[in-house]
Amino acid sequence: MHDTISVDPEALRADVRDKYKDVATNPQGDFHFHTGRPLAALLGYDRAVVDALPDRAVESFAGVGNPHSVRPLAAGERVVDLGSGAGFDCFIAAQAVGTAGAVVGVDMTPEMLAKSRETAAELGLDNVEFREGILEELPVEDGWADAVISNGVINLVADKAAVFAQAYRVLRPGGAIQFADIANGKPLPEQAVCSIDLWTGCVGGGKPVGDWCGLLENAGFSDISVGPAIDAFGGSGGEKNARAFDVSAHVFLATKPE
Ligand SMILES: C[S@@+](CC[C@H](N)C(=O)[O-])C[C@H]1O[C@@H](n2cnc3c(N)ncnc32)[C@H](O)[C@@H]1O
Repeated sequence: MHDTISVDPEALRADVRDKYKDVATNPQGDFHFHTGRPLAALLGYDRAVVDALPDRAVESFAGVGNPHSVRPLAAGERVVDLGSGAGFDCFIAAQAVGTAGAVVGVDMTPEMLAKSRETAAELGLDNVEFREGILEELPVEDGWADAVISNGVINLVADKAAVFAQAYRVLRPGGAIQFADIANGKPLPEQAVCSIDLWTGCVGGGKPVGDWCGLLENAGFSDISVGPAIDAFGGSGGEKNARAFDVSAHVFLATKPE
């Protein structure tokens, strides 16, 4: 499967930074997607774990599924979170891997990085680090990670093949990629695929489930499995667009062969 790049990657990154700056600094704002504690409950995160986190660790959460649900992270594992935002999934991962493990979150939006770093300091976590970078050129060494996680992010990247190639590079043989992202059940018209507004609206950059699996396969991953459809946008401002293109979220799991 050949994945074409239909929007200018740098223009898209600039718009994404602009939009997610607001999610970091004004989390109670009006967005086209659910956020924070209501979203974590909708997506089935462990209530006790979420309740134990302070508001600033949860309020800017903007994922579309629960990547921890398909493969629990084990104590001692090294984890990379692609597009860590304000750090919610990294804080959940940090508890799971414990002090013998390590979590690296990568994001490109300065306000998200500042917020996640301040929260990690407030929580006194020294097994979590947030690095500035783009997913197309991950600032992580080859073969470092046991697991790569991601939540609602790869749809926002123009060159998805580059992201999966980078995920493959940073994983050790036998390591897992587990990510939640959006899939469209109906083909998107050409003008939607070329509209940056629809990409930042979490519609333009989605892929049919089969295309996500093709991207994983092309990058070298095996044992690919796909979780059930999640209605991540129901009741949000983005519901109309999501329904128009039959958009739902799924959690994907795959392995880098030994
Ligand atoms: C929808 S938010 C999700 C954040 C986080 N995963 C969560 O669940 O709350 C998308 C995040 O991905 C980041 N992002 C999008 N494209 C990126 C890229 N090409 N490189 C690095 N970060 C990116 C944005 O800065 C933003 O923080």
